[in-house]
Amino acid sequence: MDLERLAGVIRDARARIEAASDLDELSAAESETLGRRSEIAVARSGIGRLAPDRRRDVGRAINEAVGTLTAAVEDRRSALQAEAENVLLEQDRIDLTLPYGRPARGTHHLLTRTMEDVCDVFRAIGYEVAEGPELELAWYNFDALNTPPTHPSRFESDTMYVEPFDDRERSGPDELLLRTQTSPMQARFMEKNPPPVYVVVPGRVFRTDTWDATHSPVFHQIEGLAVDSDITFGDLKGTLAYFAREFFGVSARTRFVPHFFPFTEPSAEMLVWFNDEWLEMLGCGMVDPNVFEAVGYDPAEVTGFAFGMGVERLAMVRHGITDIRHFYDSDLRVLGQFR
Ligand code: DAH
Repeated sequence: MDLERLAGVIRDARARIEAASDLDELSAAESETLGRRSEIAVARSGIGRLAPDRRRDVGRAINEAVGTLTAAVEDRRSALQAEAENVLLEQDRIDLTLPYGRPARGTHHLLTRTMEDVCDVFRAIGYEVAEGPELELAWYNFDALNTPPTHPSRFESDTMYVEPFDDRERSGPDELLLRTQTSPMQARFMEKNPPPVYVVVPGRVFRTDTWDATHSPVFHQIEGLAVDSDITFGDLKGTLAYFAREFFGVSARTRFVPHFFPFTEPSAEMLVWFNDEWLEMLGCGMVDPNVFEAVGYDPAEVTGFAFGMGVERLAMVRHGITDIRHFYDSDLRVLGQFR
Protein backbone atom coordinates (compact mmCIF):
# COMPACT_ATOMS: atom_id res chain seq x y z
CA MET A 1 0.00 0.00 0.00
CA ASP A 2 1.43 3.34 -0.92
CA LEU A 3 1.48 6.20 1.56
CA GLU A 4 -1.09 8.22 -0.27
CA ARG A 5 -3.54 5.38 -0.20
CA LEU A 6 -2.78 4.91 3.48
CA ALA A 7 -3.61 8.54 4.16
CA GLY A 8 -7.00 8.03 2.48
CA VAL A 9 -7.64 4.88 4.51
CA ILE A 10 -6.86 6.74 7.74
CA ARG A 11 -9.12 9.62 6.81
CA ASP A 12 -12.05 7.27 6.05
CA ALA A 13 -11.41 5.21 9.16
CA ARG A 14 -11.35 8.27 11.37
CA ALA A 15 -14.57 9.54 9.86
CA ARG A 16 -16.26 6.18 10.54
CA ILE A 17 -15.04 6.15 14.12
CA GLU A 18 -16.19 9.66 14.80
CA ALA A 19 -19.57 9.01 13.20
CA ALA A 20 -20.31 6.09 15.55
CA SER A 21 -23.41 7.19 17.42
CA ASP A 22 -23.32 4.54 20.17
CA LEU A 23 -20.91 2.05 21.70
CA ASP A 24 -22.07 -0.83 19.48
CA GLU A 25 -21.49 1.17 16.33
CA LEU A 26 -18.10 2.16 17.66
CA SER A 27 -17.11 -1.48 18.27
CA ALA A 28 -18.15 -2.31 14.72
CA ALA A 29 -16.16 0.64 13.36
CA GLU A 30 -13.15 -0.40 15.44
CA SER A 31 -13.04 -3.92 14.12
CA GLU A 32 -13.62 -2.78 10.55
CA THR A 33 -10.84 -0.20 10.67
CA LEU A 34 -8.32 -1.84 13.02
CA GLY A 35 -9.39 -5.48 13.23
CA ARG A 36 -7.64 -8.47 11.68
CA ARG A 37 -9.38 -8.04 8.35
CA SER A 38 -9.00 -4.31 8.08
CA GLU A 39 -7.06 -2.76 5.25
CA ILE A 40 -4.44 -1.57 7.70
CA ALA A 41 -3.96 -5.02 9.23
CA VAL A 42 -3.71 -6.52 5.81
CA ALA A 43 -1.17 -3.88 4.77
CA ARG A 44 0.83 -4.47 7.94
CA SER A 45 1.06 -8.16 7.31
CA GLY A 46 2.31 -7.38 3.79
CA ILE A 47 5.20 -5.22 4.98
CA GLY A 48 7.58 -8.14 4.79
CA ARG A 49 6.92 -8.47 1.10
CA LEU A 50 7.81 -4.88 0.34
CA ALA A 51 11.07 -3.80 -1.16
CA PRO A 52 13.56 -3.36 1.69
CA ASP A 53 14.01 0.39 1.08
CA ARG A 54 10.26 1.05 1.57
CA ARG A 55 9.68 -1.24 4.56
CA ARG A 56 10.82 1.27 7.11
CA ASP A 57 8.72 4.24 5.87
CA VAL A 58 5.61 2.19 5.26
CA GLY A 59 6.05 0.32 8.56
CA ARG A 60 6.35 3.54 10.52
CA ALA A 61 3.39 5.11 8.67
CA ILE A 62 1.21 2.08 9.44
CA ASN A 63 2.24 2.06 13.11
CA GLU A 64 1.45 5.74 13.37
CA ALA A 65 -1.89 5.16 11.67
CA VAL A 66 -2.75 2.39 14.14
CA GLY A 67 -1.79 4.67 17.03
CA THR A 68 -3.84 7.56 15.71
CA LEU A 69 -6.91 5.44 15.04
CA THR A 70 -6.68 3.61 18.39
CA ALA A 71 -6.57 6.98 20.12
CA ALA A 72 -9.55 8.16 18.05
CA VAL A 73 -11.51 5.05 19.11
CA GLU A 74 -10.66 5.67 22.77
CA ASP A 75 -11.69 9.34 22.55
CA ARG A 76 -14.94 8.44 20.87
CA ARG A 77 -15.54 5.68 23.42
CA SER A 78 -15.17 7.99 26.41
CA ALA A 79 -17.34 10.61 24.75
CA LEU A 80 -20.08 8.03 24.08
CA GLN A 81 -19.81 6.62 27.61
CA ALA A 82 -20.14 10.08 29.12
CA GLU A 83 -23.14 10.72 26.90
CA ALA A 84 -24.76 7.45 27.94
CA GLU A 85 -24.21 8.30 31.60
CA ASN A 86 -25.75 11.71 31.14
CA VAL A 87 -28.80 10.14 29.55
CA LEU A 88 -29.10 7.75 32.50
CA LEU A 89 -28.69 10.58 35.00
CA GLU A 90 -31.27 12.64 33.18
CA GLN A 91 -33.74 9.75 33.15
CA ASP A 92 -33.16 9.02 36.84
CA ARG A 93 -33.45 12.63 37.86
CA ILE A 94 -35.94 13.28 40.67
CA ASP A 95 -37.43 16.75 40.85
CA LEU A 96 -37.68 17.38 44.56
CA THR A 97 -39.61 20.58 43.94
CA LEU A 98 -42.59 18.84 42.32
CA PRO A 99 -45.71 18.81 44.51
CA TYR A 100 -46.48 15.45 46.09
CA GLY A 101 -49.67 14.09 47.62
CA ARG A 102 -49.71 16.36 50.66
CA PRO A 103 -52.19 15.51 53.41
CA ALA A 104 -55.01 18.05 53.54
CA ARG A 105 -54.25 20.90 55.93
CA GLY A 106 -56.67 21.08 58.83
CA THR A 107 -58.05 24.25 60.36
CA HIS A 108 -59.75 25.31 63.53
CA HIS A 109 -63.52 24.94 63.54
CA LEU A 110 -65.36 28.17 62.79
CA LEU A 111 -66.82 28.20 66.31
CA THR A 112 -63.36 27.94 67.84
CA ARG A 113 -62.14 30.71 65.56
CA THR A 114 -65.10 32.91 66.46
CA MET A 115 -64.47 32.42 70.19
CA GLU A 116 -60.79 33.26 69.69
CA ASP A 117 -61.70 36.37 67.71
CA VAL A 118 -64.05 37.62 70.42
CA CYS A 119 -61.55 36.87 73.19
CA ASP A 120 -58.84 38.71 71.23
CA VAL A 121 -61.03 41.82 70.99
CA PHE A 122 -61.37 41.88 74.77
CA ARG A 123 -57.79 40.83 75.50
CA ALA A 124 -56.69 43.90 73.58
CA ILE A 125 -58.39 46.13 76.15
CA GLY A 126 -57.06 44.32 79.18
CA TYR A 127 -59.52 41.51 79.82
CA GLU A 128 -58.28 38.07 80.78
CA VAL A 129 -59.77 34.82 79.50
CA ALA A 130 -61.01 32.15 81.91
CA GLU A 131 -62.93 28.91 81.57
CA GLY A 132 -65.30 27.13 83.91
CA PRO A 133 -66.80 23.63 84.33
CA GLU A 134 -69.59 22.34 82.09
CA LEU A 135 -70.93 20.19 84.92
CA GLU A 136 -72.13 22.80 87.36
CA LEU A 137 -73.91 23.25 90.68
CA ALA A 138 -77.33 24.90 90.59
CA TRP A 139 -75.87 27.34 93.11
CA TYR A 140 -73.49 28.86 90.55
CA ASN A 141 -75.79 28.48 87.56
CA PHE A 142 -78.82 29.99 89.35
CA ASP A 143 -78.78 30.91 93.06
CA ALA A 144 -75.61 32.98 93.14
CA LEU A 145 -76.94 34.75 90.04
CA ASN A 146 -80.06 35.94 91.82
CA THR A 147 -82.27 33.35 90.15
CA PRO A 148 -84.85 32.07 92.67
CA PRO A 149 -85.74 28.35 93.05
CA THR A 150 -89.07 28.98 91.35
CA HIS A 151 -87.62 30.56 88.22
CA PRO A 152 -88.95 28.75 85.11
CA SER A 153 -85.49 28.26 83.60
CA ARG A 154 -84.74 25.92 86.53
CA PHE A 155 -87.42 23.42 85.47
CA GLU A 156 -86.27 20.17 84.00
CA SER A 157 -88.08 21.17 80.83
CA ASP A 158 -85.33 23.77 80.29
CA THR A 159 -82.30 22.55 82.19
CA MET A 160 -80.56 19.18 81.98
CA TYR A 161 -79.93 17.85 85.47
CA VAL A 162 -77.47 15.05 85.95
CA GLU A 163 -79.53 13.31 88.66
CA PRO A 164 -83.22 13.58 87.75
CA PHE A 165 -85.39 14.89 90.54
CA ASP A 166 -89.11 15.13 91.19
CA ASP A 167 -90.45 17.95 89.01
CA ARG A 168 -92.73 19.18 91.79
CA GLU A 169 -89.74 19.71 94.01
CA ARG A 170 -87.74 22.82 93.52
CA SER A 171 -84.23 22.68 92.20
CA GLY A 172 -82.06 23.40 95.22
CA PRO A 173 -78.54 24.89 95.12
CA ASP A 174 -76.94 21.42 95.42
CA GLU A 175 -78.39 19.99 92.23
CA LEU A 176 -75.83 19.00 89.60
CA LEU A 177 -76.63 20.14 86.09
CA LEU A 178 -75.12 20.86 82.71
CA ARG A 179 -74.65 24.62 82.80
CA THR A 180 -77.28 26.46 80.77
CA GLN A 181 -75.12 29.56 80.38
CA THR A 182 -71.52 30.71 80.92
CA SER A 183 -72.77 33.15 83.58
CA PRO A 184 -71.93 30.82 86.52
CA MET A 185 -68.29 31.69 85.89
CA GLN A 186 -69.13 35.24 87.01
CA ALA A 187 -69.73 33.90 90.50
CA ARG A 188 -66.87 31.42 90.43
CA PHE A 189 -64.42 34.05 89.23
CA MET A 190 -65.41 36.68 91.78
CA GLU A 191 -65.27 34.10 94.57
CA LYS A 192 -61.62 33.42 93.71
CA ASN A 193 -60.46 36.92 92.71
CA PRO A 194 -60.80 40.25 94.51
CA PRO A 195 -61.88 43.27 92.43
CA PRO A 196 -61.08 44.74 89.98
CA VAL A 197 -62.23 42.05 87.54
CA TYR A 198 -62.08 42.17 83.75
CA VAL A 199 -62.71 38.71 82.34
CA VAL A 200 -64.29 36.94 79.38
CA VAL A 201 -65.36 33.29 79.53
CA PRO A 202 -65.90 31.24 76.36
CA GLY A 203 -67.57 27.87 76.76
CA ARG A 204 -70.11 25.20 75.90
CA VAL A 205 -73.60 25.33 77.35
CA PHE A 206 -76.58 22.96 77.36
CA ARG A 207 -80.35 23.33 77.17
CA THR A 208 -83.26 20.99 76.49
CA ASP A 209 -83.84 22.67 73.15
CA THR A 210 -85.07 20.79 70.13
CA TRP A 211 -82.68 20.62 67.22
CA ASP A 212 -83.76 22.96 64.40
CA ALA A 213 -82.28 25.62 62.13
CA THR A 214 -81.73 28.08 64.99
CA HIS A 215 -81.60 25.84 68.11
CA SER A 216 -79.25 23.19 69.35
CA PRO A 217 -79.24 21.48 72.77
CA VAL A 218 -75.50 22.14 72.89
CA PHE A 219 -74.14 25.52 71.88
CA HIS A 220 -71.53 28.08 72.90
CA GLN A 221 -71.49 31.36 74.75
CA ILE A 222 -69.02 34.00 75.75
CA GLU A 223 -69.57 35.70 79.05
CA GLY A 224 -68.03 38.99 80.06
CA LEU A 225 -67.66 40.66 83.43
CA ALA A 226 -66.15 43.98 84.46
CA VAL A 227 -66.13 44.97 88.14
CA ASP A 228 -64.32 48.00 89.52
CA SER A 229 -64.78 50.90 91.90
CA ASP A 230 -66.98 53.06 89.69
CA ILE A 231 -68.15 51.30 86.56
CA THR A 232 -71.16 52.90 84.89
CA PHE A 233 -73.71 51.99 82.26
CA GLY A 234 -71.71 54.30 79.98
CA ASP A 235 -68.72 51.96 80.32
CA LEU A 236 -70.97 49.06 79.38
CA LYS A 237 -72.24 50.81 76.26
CA GLY A 238 -68.82 52.04 75.19
CA THR A 239 -67.18 48.66 75.69
CA LEU A 240 -69.84 46.70 73.84
CA ALA A 241 -70.09 49.22 70.99
CA TYR A 242 -66.30 48.92 70.64
CA PHE A 243 -66.67 45.15 70.54
CA ALA A 244 -69.33 45.39 67.81
CA ARG A 245 -67.09 47.59 65.64
CA GLU A 246 -64.09 45.31 66.12
CA PHE A 247 -66.07 42.17 65.37
CA PHE A 248 -68.50 43.30 62.65
CA GLY A 249 -66.54 46.18 61.14
CA VAL A 250 -66.08 49.89 61.78
CA SER A 251 -69.49 50.81 60.44
CA ALA A 252 -71.37 48.54 62.88
CA ARG A 253 -73.99 50.61 64.75
CA THR A 254 -75.40 49.47 68.08
CA ARG A 255 -78.62 50.03 70.00
CA PHE A 256 -79.52 49.06 73.55
CA VAL A 257 -83.10 48.13 74.43
CA PRO A 258 -84.44 47.29 77.91
CA HIS A 259 -84.66 43.63 78.82
CA PHE A 260 -84.73 41.42 81.90
CA PHE A 261 -82.09 39.11 83.34
CA PRO A 262 -82.13 38.00 86.98
CA PHE A 263 -78.48 38.84 87.60
CA THR A 264 -78.35 42.36 86.12
CA GLU A 265 -80.30 45.52 86.94
CA PRO A 266 -80.89 47.37 84.72
CA SER A 267 -80.63 44.83 81.91
CA ALA A 268 -80.52 45.37 78.18
CA GLU A 269 -80.22 43.65 74.87
CA MET A 270 -77.71 45.00 72.39
CA LEU A 271 -78.76 45.13 68.75
CA VAL A 272 -76.29 45.50 65.91
CA TRP A 273 -77.13 47.05 62.53
CA PHE A 274 -75.78 44.55 60.06
CA ASN A 275 -76.85 43.74 56.49
CA ASP A 276 -79.64 46.33 56.66
CA GLU A 277 -81.36 45.08 59.80
CA TRP A 278 -81.18 45.39 63.57
CA LEU A 279 -80.09 42.02 64.99
CA GLU A 280 -80.24 41.03 68.67
CA MET A 281 -76.64 40.19 69.46
CA LEU A 282 -76.26 39.87 73.22
CA GLY A 283 -77.67 40.34 76.70
CA CYS A 284 -76.08 42.69 79.19
CA GLY A 285 -76.63 44.83 82.22
CA MET A 286 -75.26 46.25 85.44
CA VAL A 287 -74.39 43.50 87.93
CA ASP A 288 -77.18 43.14 90.49
CA PRO A 289 -75.97 43.92 94.06
CA ASN A 290 -77.41 40.55 95.15
CA VAL A 291 -74.81 38.83 92.97
CA PHE A 292 -72.00 40.78 94.65
CA GLU A 293 -73.34 39.74 98.01
CA ALA A 294 -73.56 36.07 97.01
CA VAL A 295 -69.86 36.00 96.10
CA GLY A 296 -68.66 38.05 99.08
CA TYR A 297 -68.10 41.41 97.38
CA ASP A 298 -69.33 44.56 99.11
CA PRO A 299 -71.98 46.20 96.84
CA ALA A 300 -71.14 49.53 98.46
CA GLU A 301 -67.55 49.27 97.22
CA VAL A 302 -67.93 48.07 93.64
CA THR A 303 -70.11 48.30 90.57
CA GLY A 304 -69.87 46.37 87.37
CA PHE A 305 -71.42 45.22 84.16
CA ALA A 306 -71.88 41.80 82.62
CA PHE A 307 -72.76 40.49 79.20
CA GLY A 308 -73.34 37.19 77.47
CA MET A 309 -73.48 36.29 73.78
CA GLY A 310 -74.12 33.21 71.68
CA VAL A 311 -71.12 32.17 69.59
CA GLU A 312 -73.17 30.34 66.94
CA ARG A 313 -75.32 33.42 66.45
CA LEU A 314 -72.27 35.68 66.10
CA ALA A 315 -70.78 33.39 63.48
CA MET A 316 -74.07 32.95 61.62
CA VAL A 317 -74.62 36.69 61.35
CA ARG A 318 -71.03 37.46 60.44
CA HIS A 319 -70.79 34.79 57.74
CA GLY A 320 -74.40 34.61 56.55
CA ILE A 321 -74.93 31.03 57.74
CA THR A 322 -78.63 30.19 57.84
CA ASP A 323 -78.72 26.84 59.66
CA ILE A 324 -77.04 26.24 63.04
CA ARG A 325 -76.75 22.51 62.25
CA HIS A 326 -73.99 23.24 59.72
CA PHE A 327 -71.68 23.78 62.69
CA TYR A 328 -72.09 20.24 63.94
CA ASP A 329 -72.51 18.21 60.72
CA SER A 330 -68.74 17.89 60.21
CA ASP A 331 -69.32 18.44 56.49
CA LEU A 332 -65.92 19.50 55.19
CA ARG A 333 -67.51 21.26 52.20
CA VAL A 334 -69.01 23.68 54.72
CA LEU A 335 -66.22 23.80 57.30
CA GLY A 336 -63.50 24.12 54.64
CA GLN A 337 -64.96 27.44 53.54
CA PHE A 338 -63.80 29.08 56.75
CA ARG A 339 -60.02 28.94 56.83
N1 DAH B 1 -76.80 34.23 80.46
C1 DAH B 1 -77.70 34.90 79.55
C2 DAH B 1 -78.35 33.90 78.64
O1 DAH B 1 -77.90 32.80 78.55
C3 DAH B 1 -76.97 35.93 78.73
C4 DAH B 1 -76.55 37.10 79.57
C5 DAH B 1 -77.40 38.20 79.68
C6 DAH B 1 -75.37 37.09 80.26
C7 DAH B 1 -77.08 39.28 80.44
C8 DAH B 1 -75.01 38.20 81.03
C9 DAH B 1 -75.87 39.28 81.12
O2 DAH B 1 -73.87 38.24 81.72
O3 DAH B 1 -75.54 40.34 81.87
O4 DAH B 1 -79.32 34.23 78.00
